[in-house]
Formats: sequence, structure tokens, C-alpha cells
Amino acid sequence: MPVIGAPLPEPDRQTSPTTTDDRSSSVGSRIARPDGLAKAAGTARYVDDLVFPRMLHGRTVRSTIAKGTVRAVRPRVGAAEGFVVVDHRDIPGVNVVTLIEDDQPCLVETEVRHIAEPILLLAHEDREALNAAIVDIEYDEQAPLLDPAHSDVVQKRLVVARGDLDAGFADADVIIEGDYTTGHQEQLYIETNGVIAVPEPGGGISLYGSIQCPFYVRRALAVLLDLPPERVRVVQTETGGGFGGKEEYPSMLAGHAALLALEAGRPVKMIYDRTEDMLATTKRHPFRVRHRTGVKRDGTLTAVDIDILCDGGAYVTLTPVVLSRGVLHSVGPYRCDNVRVVGRAVMTNTPPNGAFRGFGAPQTQFAAEVHMERIAEELGVDPVELRERNALRPGDVTITGGRIGADGSALEVLREAVRRSDYHAKRAAYRGTGRGIGLSLFFHGSGFTGDGEKKLASEAALEVTAEGVRVLAGTCDIGQGTRTIHAQIVADVLGIPFEQVTVVDPDTSRVPDSGPTVASRTCMVVGGILQRCAHELRERLDGLSPREYHERHGSLVVSKHYEAPPGLSFDEVNYVGDAYGTYAWACDVAEVELDPDTYQVRPLRITAVQEIGKAIHPVLAGGQIEGGTAQGVGYGLIEEVVMRGGAMANASLTNYLIPTTLDTPRIDVTILEHAYEHGPFGAKGVGELPIDGPAPALLNALRHLGVDLRALPATPERVMEAMCD
Ligand code: MOS
Repeated sequence: MPVIGAPLPEPDRQTSPTTTDDRSSSVGSRIARPDGLAKAAGTARYVDDLVFPRMLHGRTVRSTIAKGTVRAVRPRVGAAEGFVVVDHRDIPGVNVVTLIEDDQPCLVETEVRHIAEPILLLAHEDREALNAAIVDIEYDEQAPLLDPAHSDVVQKRLVVARGDLDAGFADADVIIEGDYTTGHQEQLYIETNGVIAVPEPGGGISLYGSIQCPFYVRRALAVLLDLPPERVRVVQTETGGGFGGKEEYPSMLAGHAALLALEAGRPVKMIYDRTEDMLATTKRHPFRVRHRTGVKRDGTLTAVDIDILCDGGAYVTLTPVVLSRGVLHSVGPYRCDNVRVVGRAVMTNTPPNGAFRGFGAPQTQFAAEVHMERIAEELGVDPVELRERNALRPGDVTITGGRIGADGSALEVLREAVRRSDYHAKRAAYRGTGRGIGLSLFFHGSGFTGDGEKKLASEAALEVTAEGVRVLAGTCDIGQGTRTIHAQIVADVLGIPFEQVTVVDPDTSRVPDSGPTVASRTCMVVGGILQRCAHELRERLDGLSPREYHERHGSLVVSKHYEAPPGLSFDEVNYVGDAYGTYAWACDVAEVELDPDTYQVRPLRITAVQEIGKAIHPVLAGGQIEGGTAQGVGYGLIEEVVMRGGAMANASLTNYLIPTTLDTPRIDVTILEHAYEHGPFGAKGVGELPIDGPAPALLNALRHLGVDLRALPATPERVMEAMCD
């Protein structure tokens, strides 16, 4: 029985010496997160807790067809009943949600491309009156395109080619093929999407919201409202989870609230309920991945040919970048000289898919790792030995010719996970017991892909105050602990107590643009800029503490931009070079039990060994790994978005299941630390890595039981089908 007040178990850690000269007293320790008490006590204020004088509530009227044109829109209410009504004609700037392709309108003009597409906006003082309002919409309906395999509208195509594929296949003793499919997954943050827009005197706008990327929202509002960016202020309120789901959609929602607020001349709050959030906002992209692999008898890979089809949904949003990360991780952490990967993302008449923790890598590494297991079966080679033979080692090159650094840890994580889980003994002992054990080896590139970080040129700053030092950064704490780790890094470089460092909450009028809170970059990239700021500040303080300096000289601000590590280069046209500065590495071992009557798969235990450079805060890093692993268990076994006619048919928490405590197995977390020389205190990314591995490990455990399943999730229905074939 859990003892309340007992210390949390700390994840196991094995540390290699770090390469920095920074004094570590708070880095690596289990400091209490500064936002923890208010969250636990219920006093933290989320966007729905905020109330502005004369505030209205806003509502979105959405399409009920998947494809067609709007013939007429007739609201049965108007100004006389206290309603504010807005359609596309009220947009002062460009009717677009600005992102990559600018193809997505903020409000439908005539063409409808998916169910739940926003057409009309209403606002009213009274939420019940608002929800009761009726709007009649007439459409000319057309047959929607729902199957990506039948779509020829290509949103993005990418090719990685290396070596000589034909020669590689000619060299092979065996060729193994396979098709692997994954469905949607819903981010299911605890707090649904929500914002408040407040009109400012002189025509500007302030936006408060549950968001990951304040500067994305600012740019989108500036374009939509035809305002200079300085007149748009975006404030991130305390955010109850994001997982990528608050990366691009908030720009749409913010646009709606801002249009209503400007029309009304009053603040407007828009908070989605769970059903609207599930029906209308982005989800993980479904993938179909085809592998054709040439291997030697001993398991050496000689040729890898991969074809990826990604369902982008009705508009482009972030799909090209998701496809890119999917392609770059599609071979898994293995070396092979002859490789071709072709990735294609296509349009369908379904709500646009978007960012979700892992960003394409969970889909393609699921395919890679189940395929590896099938290769092992086919050759009669031990699955661990097969992976050992092919795993990337320091000095090896990736499929784009990028060099693996000294912190490449594929072999270490594999061996440690095998040892800790007692894999080989259990593999034999489970025979005939209804239990199975399987593993997955995986990696995740830290930070933006290719030259992304150079182009972003993120900025962060430190300010000396009477109390100590203030961190000025535009990246958001969405629950993962950004405030804590940024303050730890700064405190230790300056040699001051953690309590003397405060972190300013993101507000585009107060903090520089540190880039979006995505891509496992917040600790490594933004933390790295802050570390450089702190080094310079330490010199300029010239032996004084920040408080002493402030007493004598007043304030001081040090600001820096991102600088790429030396030698890093990537050709974005031909996909050649270092796709990432570094990678985090991991191995999951899953143990499952299969109910022979109900076909239900019960996960018993997951051993997660993850190498992340340096755990700035071991409890928070361990939390990322446990949370990402649990989310991966959901992806592997339970979470199924049922699409019917282009809409999510199970858009509620009673029908879309995620793992509860009872569905989550014991997760045995081990953090390994091989410092990355260009990360703060050696840190790499940890946010996304953990979700890449559980699904393939679970399916490989099922495979150990003789179940040949190549699609996610492994629901009882799918398991039964696979067994009764
Ligand atoms: Mo993300 S899925 O890079 O927010």
C-alpha cells in the first residue's frame, strides 16, 4: 500500500563524468518544483479560472459534412438577442491560420474539407443561451476522400537515399518484407484547449491561453487581424498538458476568440469541452509503413527499403515536418550502407493531423522494431543479438550520413535493459505460460531537424534583480517542468541558490522568442542558451553575487541567441548530413499476459532504460519517462480513434480509453547519462523519446506468444483476428 508522504522512488541513475566546468549543486538534485504546491493545492489559475470584466463566451459553429460547399448560413439569433456573430467577411487581415503552407482558412468561405471545420462564430454573455442558439447551414455535399491509399493529393514527398540498394539486395541471403499500420492517437491533455481574447485600446489584442508556442500564436493573429506583431500580446496561462496538441491548433482558436472580441469590443473566452476538443483538434498522424529488407544469415543488414504513407488530413499544418522526423527515424538506431526511404504525406477529408509527442518517430519506429523482430524469427537469430550486430555505435553514420557522436548509446541501453529485465531467462521461462516478453531499441533526435535551430535563431535572456536573477524565455512550462530545470541550470552556473532564480511566465511583451515548446528542445537548446547567458553574466558580475551587483549598479540584462555546434550541417534538399545535433537512446522490455478467453493483453511490466545525456532534475526526467511510457502503452494496447464518415465516432472519455492506473504496468525506469558536449551539463532531449518504444516492445512480447500482429493498437478484437486467422 502506498504511504502518503513517503519519498518518491528515485529512478536508477548511472552517471558518466560530465564535460562541463559548472559547479553542480542544484543540477541533478530533487529540488521541489516551484509550481508544484499551487497545482497540488488547486490554487494555480488556468485559463478557465480567469474572468475579465464584461467578458463574453464564444462558440464555434462547425461543418457537419466532410466535403462540399456552403450554400447558405442562417443564424436564428442576432444582436437583438445579445449575440455577436462573426463570419469570414469580418476578418480584417488574411483568412488563414499561418503556419507552413498557409492553406487552412480560419473560417470557411465556401469550400468545406472536413467535418468540424469552423464556419461561423457566436458570442454571448450567457453560456447556456450561447449553446442553445441555432444556426441553419445549407450545403452542396460531395463524396469525401477518406482513404489515404486512394489520395493523390500529395502534401509532401521526401526521399533519403544512400549507397546502392540493388547491390545490397544482391548481397543478401534473405529478403524480408512487411506492412505495418498505425492509427490516430488523441493527445488527451487534462486541460482542453482554451483561450481568452481581450481587445486593447487602439485596436490591439491580448490573448491568454493554454498554449505551447506563444510566438506562433502572435504571428498567426498578426496576419489574421492585419496588426503589427507588437500590437498582439500573447500570454501563456498555466497549462495542463500539451503533448504537441497545443502546438498549432491554438493559433486557430486564438483567431476565433480575437475576431469575436474585436467585433464585440469585449473580452471573449472560448474553452472547448472534451467532445469538441476530440472532434475538431489535431491528432497523431496514421501511418502505413512498408519494409523490404535484405539480411545476411548472421543478421547483418545489407539493404533497407522503406515506403511510408502518412495521412495528413484536410490541411497541411505541420505534416511535412512530422513526415520528415518519421522518415529520419524510420530505420531505427541501426547502421546500413544501402538504404532508400520514400515518404509521402497525402490529403484526406478528415480533420488535419498534427503534432503529438514523438512527431512521426513513434509510427516509423513501431514498424522498424516489429520488423526487426520478424527478421530475428525468420533467421532464427536471438532478437538481442540481431540488434547488437546492427546497432549504431559512436563514429557510425546514420541514413543521411550524419555522424554518431561519442554519446551514442544504443548498445549500452540494450545491454542494460536486457540485464535488468532478466530478458533471456524469462524468454525461456515464459514458454507455455501465457506470458510473453519482447523488446524495442530506439532513438530520438533532440531539437529541430536539420538547420531548423539555426533558422529559428532562438533568443533567451537573464536579468539581474534585487532578489537575484530572472529568466526571460519564451518556452512554456506545460507540466514538464521547464521553470524548474531552467532555474537549476542558471543557479548552478552562477553558483547561487536555486531560490534566487525566478522564471518569468511567457508573455510576448516581456520575454524574447525562444522558439516553440516542441521537439525535445526546451532543456537542451533553450537551456543551452541560458547556460551561455549565465556564463557571461558570471563574468560581468566580477565576483559579486547578483544581489550585491544590483545594490551597487542596478539592473543588468544578458541576452543571447542560439549558436549551432561547430561542424553541424544538413542539406535540406537532398537530406544529407547531420539531421540532429545528437540523439537520446533507449530500450524498452515489455512483459505481457494474454487472456486466452477474452484476448485481452495485460501489460505486466516495462523495463525502460533511457540515455538522455544528463538528468537536470532526476524526478522530472523520470516523470517524463514514466508518463511517455504510459502514453506509449495506451498507443500500443488501448487507444483507438474510430473514424466514421470522416469524424471521430468515439469522441468522449467513455469511449476513447487511455490507460488508468490499473491499466498501467509497473514501469522500471533507469536513466543513463552520457554527456552530450553541446548540451547544458551534458543534457539531451527527454520529452519525446519515451513514447517511441512501448508499442513495438508490447507487440514483440505478443509475438513471443505467437501472435503475429502488425497494426496498432492490440485491442482484443485485433488479437483475436490475428490468432484465429
Ligand atoms: Mo511536439 S510533438 O514537437 O510539440
